[in-house]
Amino acid sequence: MINNKMSLREKSIVFIGFMGVGKTTIGELVAKKLYRDFVDIDKEIEKEYNMPTSEIFKTVGEKVFREKEKSIINHFSKQRLKIISVGGGAFLQEEIRKICLSNCIVFFLDLSWESWKERISLIIDSRPILQGRTLEEIEELFYKRQEIYSLHHSKVETDNLDIESVADFIVDSLKTAWELYD
Ligand code: S3P
Repeated sequence: MINNKMSLREKSIVFIGFMGVGKTTIGELVAKKLYRDFVDIDKEIEKEYNMPTSEIFKTVGEKVFREKEKSIINHFSKQRLKIISVGGGAFLQEEIRKICLSNCIVFFLDLSWESWKERISLIIDSRPILQGRTLEEIEELFYKRQEIYSLHHSKVETDNLDIESVADFIVDSLKTAWELYD
């Protein structure tokens, strides 16, 4: 489904990828470089429940979290000129994939497993999905998730790149696309 009402230049940008690949950090930087507002979907959900994600999972459960995630993404993805970071599990829902792919430009931030596993200690406390799993189980989840992230408009391999270079690459490729197709 193509949203004909919005020009390519106006479409919001969505960042997808596994937990801890840098969707928020890179998204914020891209937003700054393009003078756009940044929306972190996890933060929006946390604001609604007034508690961190790990508490939301404990208190209301993952199913309720996922429903809220869907309705908030639905709301923001239809707005113009936003930079949106969605949680690593959001694309598991077909409806979310469809909404994002038809309304927005979707960038997949692709980090290798070798580089990702170096970050695990920094993120595990705030990611309920990783807790209670062995490294082997997390690796399995990582590769399984790569399949759903393969649905995107553009991919950036971020290994060995600093966030500034990743953000510049994204901004340059967007400007090229806008010039070519708008
Ligand atoms: C999740 C990823 C998290 C957050 C929640 C569930 C997942 O977001 O939405 O903990 O299932 O992958 P980040 O990808 O921003 O860490």
